Amino acid sequence: PEPRILVTRRIFPEVIERLSRHFEVESNPDDVLWTQAELAQRMADKDGAFTTGSHRIDKALLAVSPRLKIVANMAVGYNNFDVEAMTAAGVQATNTPDVLTETTADFGFALLMATARRITESEHYLRAGQWTRWSYDMFAGGEVHGSTLGILGMGRIGQGIARRGAHGFGMDVIYHNRSRLSPELEAECKARYVGKDELLAQADHLVLVLPYTPESHHAIGAAEIARMKTTATLINIARGGIVDDAALAEALKDRRIAAAGLDVFEGEPSVHPGLLEVPNVVLTPHIASATVATRLAMANLAADNLIAFFEKGAPLTPVNRIASR
Ligand code: GLV
Ligand code: GLV
Repeated sequence: PEPRILVTRRIFPEVIERLSRHFEVESNPDDVLWTQAELAQRMADKDGAFTTGSHRIDKALLAVSPRLKIVANMAVGYNNFDVEAMTAAGVQATNTPDVLTETTADFGFALLMATARRITESEHYLRAGQWTRWSYDMFAGGEVHGSTLGILGMGRIGQGIARRGAHGFGMDVIYHNRSRLSPELEAECKARYVGKDELLAQADHLVLVLPYTPESHHAIGAAEIARMKTTATLINIARGGIVDDAALAEALKDRRIAAAGLDVFEGEPSVHPGLLEVPNVVLTPHIASATVATRLAMANLAADNLIAFFEKGAPLTPVNRIASR
């Protein structure tokens, strides 16, 4: 019999169609947000799952999913997975790297520019009918070209942002990461490795592109913000929880830094009320990889992982290694 696959959220009909040529598929066309208990109920007889970041794959779920062999995440980040528990249970985990790198780097740059140049704030002002005259300091923001771009987390997306900054905008690029890039990659990105404190102190624009792990929880809190320039902007396209949103809201209110651009939030889709109250923040609903082409490529890669796993014995983009079964 064909393996049984659960698709936990509404996705492209053509991807469901593809999966259906290989598997017996239970999908979620009405996009109901299942509770963990409802998810567990549906997982009980499934051999594999196609998930997005919105469902946790944890010990409790694995314990009641006896047939489960693989979970394919339609996301590069996989902090919704308890990878250790999945590996212990012999469950393959996969993500969707590479296909979203350039699109996500584009968005990081868009958010940086919108934040530095106060694009959404000024649009709100115009739409509200408040624009009655020109004045010299109206929405005067921070410079982008020629400024110092700081990048925390120098994976593929970080490198894409570095290239855009260095080659497109003549920015001086500094970065901090657990490990240094090779000299060749540093040269290509025109990026200089610095310690975290120097990164915080020097950056005119600080972009966060690191994975969310216990170590990166609140990597940017009140103490880190205090080290930044008062003219600096902070951009988070990585994950909520990397920034202490309450501390950031306070800092923005007190103008400890100039502005922030956030695509991800602690506890999203809820947003810290303090962030909704200050004008100097650009807020977007976790859309950094959201182009039609890239979302389709992500969905197809997640599907490819399921197909390759069941038909060839190995997925394309694994995040764990499981003992052969
Ligand atoms: C989106 O946040 C992703 O991890 O792909
Ligand atoms: C992951 O961290 C990536 O940058 O692709």
